Amino acid sequence: MTKRDFIRADAWPDAEVLGLLDRAAALKAGTAAGSLAGKVLGLVFFDPSLRTRTSFEVAMLRHGGHSVTLEPGKGSWALEHRTGAVMDGAYVEHVAEAARVLSRYVDALGVRAFPTAPTWDEARRDEVVGGFAKYATVPVINLESARRHPCQELADALTLQEKLGGAPKRKRFVLTWAWHPKALPTAVPVSAALAAARLGMEVVIARPEGWQLDHEDRAAIKACAERQGGSVVETDDMEGAVAGADAVYAKSWGSLLDFGNPAGEAERRSALRGWRVDETLMRTTRGGAGIFMHCLPVRRNVVVTDGVLDGPWSVVTDEAENRLHVQRALLLELLGGWR
Ligand code: CP
Repeated sequence: MTKRDFIRADAWPDAEVLGLLDRAAALKAGTAAGSLAGKVLGLVFFDPSLRTRTSFEVAMLRHGGHSVTLEPGKGSWALEHRTGAVMDGAYVEHVAEAARVLSRYVDALGVRAFPTAPTWDEARRDEVVGGFAKYATVPVINLESARRHPCQELADALTLQEKLGGAPKRKRFVLTWAWHPKALPTAVPVSAALAAARLGMEVVIARPEGWQLDHEDRAAIKACAERQGGSVVETDDMEGAVAGADAVYAKSWGSLLDFGNPAGEAERRSALRGWRVDETLMRTTRGGAGIFMHCLPVRRNVVVTDGVLDGPWSVVTDEAENRLHVQRALLLELLGGWR
C-alpha cells in the first residue's frame, strides 16, 4: 500500500481535512476513540519546540503507543539533506539513510526543519522534510518546515470552529503581520490563512509593503478560499483590517525580499514597531469581542500586549490544547487506529 504523508494540509482534499477536524472534536469530547497500541512514532527535531514535541509525545501515549525523539546534531548524528553533497564537512549521515533506517524501527515519522538555505529560491523547496518524505517508507508528518505548519493549521481551524459558534463561514479572519526582532519563517502565517480559507472565511492579510508571502502560497490560499466560498484580500492597513473582525491572528514573518540577509531585513522593518496588537486595537473588533490568536511561542509586549494575552480575547491556550486533539486524529488516521 502507498504510504500517505502529511506535509501540506492543502495537498489533502478539503473534505478529508474537514473530516479530520470533526474527528478531532469528537476525540476531544470523548465521543470517538482509537488505539495506537504497539505503534511507535519517530520525532526528528532540527529546531526547538515546546508544543509540537510535547503534544505528539502525549498523543501517542494517550492512545497506547510510544514515541522516540531525536535532535540531529545533539545526541544523534548531524544530518545532510542535499542531493549529491560531498559529505566531508560537519554532516555525518544523510537524510536518505536516516529516513530509510528509522522507517525500519517506527510506524510514522514527524520532522521539524526550519529554513536554513541562503536563498528563498532554495529554502522554498523544503528539501529536509521533502527528503524524509522521499526516502521514508512510513508516513511522514511535517512538524513545521519552511513552507507549512499543517498541524498548527488543523489546530487553528478547530479553534475557529469552537470559538466562532461552529459557524466561521463568511466571518472575517485577519492575519496581521507584527514586528519582531528576528526574521521568522512564513510557514505559520501561510498555514493560518489556509485554515481560515478552508472554513470559507473572509480572510484579510494585513502586512506592510514588502512582506507579501510567497506567490505560490498566496495562490494556494486564494484557491482554497474560492473552493470554500470565502475570499482573500491583502492590505497594508492593520487598523482598517481589524475593525469589525471576528478573529485576529498575529504573526511575524521575515520579508522574503531580504531572505538570507538579516541585517537588510532588520533595516527594512526598523520603522514598523507600531505593528503590534494591543487592547485598543482588539476593542475595535466585532462588538469588541473578536478572538485573538497566535500559534505560540509569542514575545509579550512586542508582538502583542500583556493586556490582550491575559484579557478576554485570547484563545492562544485553546489553540495549543487543540494541537493535541488534531494530532490524535491525524495519527489515528495515518496509522489505521480508529475503533
Ligand atoms: N506552535 C508551535 O509549533 O509551538 P512549538 O514551536 O513550541 O512546537
